[in-house]
This record gives sequence, C-alpha cells and structure tokens, in this order.
Amino acid sequence: MPSEFTSQKETALFQPEHVRRQFPIFEREVAWLDNAATTQRPERVLRAMDEFNRRHNANTRRSVHRLGAEATAAYEGAREVVARFIGAESPAEVIFTPGTTVGINIVANSLAHGGIGPGDEVWISAQEHHGNWVPWLKATQTLGAHLRIIPLLPDGHLDLARFQEGLAGGRVRWVALTWVSNVLGFENDVRAFCAAAHGAGARVLVDAAQAAAHVPMDVRELDCDFLAFSGHKMYGPMGIGVLWGRAELLAQMEPFILGGEMIGRVEEQAATWAEPPYRFEGGTPNVMGAVGLGEAMGWLENLPAGAHEHVSALAREAAQTLAELPGVRILGPAMERVSLVSFCVDGVHAHDVAQVLDGRGIAVRAGHMCAQPLLRRLGVESAVRASFAPYNTMDEVNALVEGVRAAQELFA
Ligand code: ALA
Repeated sequence: MPSEFTSQKETALFQPEHVRRQFPIFEREVAWLDNAATTQRPERVLRAMDEFNRRHNANTRRSVHRLGAEATAAYEGAREVVARFIGAESPAEVIFTPGTTVGINIVANSLAHGGIGPGDEVWISAQEHHGNWVPWLKATQTLGAHLRIIPLLPDGHLDLARFQEGLAGGRVRWVALTWVSNVLGFENDVRAFCAAAHGAGARVLVDAAQAAAHVPMDVRELDCDFLAFSGHKMYGPMGIGVLWGRAELLAQMEPFILGGEMIGRVEEQAATWAEPPYRFEGGTPNVMGAVGLGEAMGWLENLPAGAHEHVSALAREAAQTLAELPGVRILGPAMERVSLVSFCVDGVHAHDVAQVLDGRGIAVRAGHMCAQPLLRRLGVESAVRASFAPYNTMDEVNALVEGVRAAQELFA
C-alpha cells in the first residue's frame, strides 16, 4: 500500500514498493530503519508459520503419529533449505539455535573440552558485538588462556598485519570474527583472516549476523570452520538461528545444552550423545521458527535483481548526506556500506536524535549498539544507526536526514 514514505524516484530497475507491499506491517505508517536489530517479515514467512501452527503442530522425532511425522519433515526440510542456502556439505552440519549468540556460546563453551589450554590465545576483533565478545572472554578467563584483540586501522578496517604477527607467536588456537560490523557496516575480508588463521593451525568462527540478509553466504568458499547467524535479521522469525560447523569438528565437539533429544543412551550414572546436529539441539526444537527461516531464505533467493544494490545505495546515500551536515560524524568509511550507517551528532545525545526521529515516524537504533569496546575505541559513548532493507526508499533516507537536521535545531 502506498505510504508517505513511498518514493516517486525509484523508477529504475528495482522498485522497493513491490517488496514493501509483501510486508503486512507496512499497513502501519513507519519508516523502518532498524533492520540491523531486526527485519520485518513478509507475508510468505508469516503464512508458512501460520500453516504449521494450524495444521501440523507436533513435537519432532519423538512422536510416532502422523502430525509428528509432518512436523519432523517440516523441520528437517528447513534444515535442507539452510544447508543449500549456505553451501554446507550436508544438512547434518546445520544446527538450529535460538540465534547467533547461542550458536557462538555453543562453540565457545566447547573450548573447555580440549579446544584450548592455559597460555593459549583466542583472537577476536575490535569490531565485535558483545555476542561475539563475552563468550570468548569467559571461556579464556575460565581456562587460563588469553583473549587478544585484532585492532582497527585508522579507517576502521581490521589490522591483518597485526593479526599475522600474533599468529607468528604460535599460541593462537581460535579466532572469532564478524563478517559485517553492526556499527561500521562494511564487509571484512574474512577470507583473508581464515586463510591466515588456518596457515597457523587455528580455527575460525565467523559471526554472520549482519551479513546473512545481504551477502551471499557460501561456507566452503569462505573456508571458515564455524558460521553463526540469526533468522530474524534476514526476514525470518525471532528465536531461530543457525550454527554451521565442519562435520569433522562437530563430531569431536561436546554439547552445551544437555537434556532431551540430544542423547544417545542415558544410564543412571552415565550418558552418551546423539550424532550432530541433534547433539547440539537439546530440548524441544523451534519447528515453527525453522519453517519460517526456510521460507525467508526462499524469499531472499527470489528477490528481484538490484535489491542488494538498492540497499547499499540507500546506506551510502544516507552516509554521504549525513556527513555533509555540520556536526555530524559518520562511523566508518562513507562509501563502504553493505546496509547501514552509524553516526553521532555533536551536542545531541543519540537517544534524543532517535526520539525526534520517532516523532516523525522513523525507527532507528540508538545507544551503545551492544558494542561498547568498539564505541570506546572510536571515542564515542553512543551512536545512532539507520539500517536498510529492500523495502526502504530514498524518500526515507531524505526523511532521516531532515529529522537529524530537526534534532540539531531543537537541541541547539
Ligand atoms: N545486535 C543487534 C543490533 O546491532 C541487536 O542492533
């Protein structure tokens, strides 16, 4: 349905309005520029989940009745969709999780079982979100290992040379790295970091939370060891995510969530584990979420040509136009934008900027972005972030810039 934010300018190849129409939430008047926190869900995803709930709801694997078989088929079918979507060798490498953070916790927790020992090193980057920071901090502290940080170059890129120096020390066992920072918004050269780490015998986990909706994911091409992402940042529901791991590594890994569905055999004083992926999916699975995520991937694969270019063009335009406003500082290089821009406004708190924008029907994120160490390195306490999806329009970018200008006038 046309809205105040519908652009008359998007007459080129890609028409965001065609995409926007598929999202029931836009029956409300909102410029949703908080897609990096969570994207909205298209009708196709909502319908698939509704159909599951109305017609097929049952627990998986443990049920022998026909609804149970249908629910199991739906769940395992979604696993196959995910495996194809990310280029996994087999669906057995795909673990359904509640989201990126739990996926990372599963791997970080496994370090206690032979992954690392006292004096070893785990490297993360200065760009990491707390979800890819705190689990490694706790694991290294518990094991007497060291958490090392890949620093930023002046333009915000990661310092590969410094990382290589670290590898030369011979103690690096694990590396955990974001593909696209939720604050800086450009793509890291994770392939180069994977190659360097593997050359030194270290394992690499890639946090793909901010990449999954925008960048083609091919785990074999990336050549990482683990990859984690969330469904709700790629047009699927909340509460479902994926941890992909190399089959041979998953086979050696201890489970994190212990209980029903993940066991082989349980004695009074002993237990064995199921094979991966079930070993890592203790408890009743989120079947509805998996169904929704599978549909979201199908939806993404069928986006019209030009959708991803449109998203990065919106982010670049926002970055460039905001940078022209006196007193506005853009975080990260203006032109390297996958989908988002974070910025600070001199003399106006990020929450005040977001409040003024909200008053104009524009939703953005404001605060520390769950990346306090990064913001500290950048010399700021908080920032405002606008993040884009194919349903956003150039008119929404213009409304954002106007709103920031209004906030400056109000708080001047
Ligand atoms: N990690 C999400 C964000 O950056 C919640 O907004």
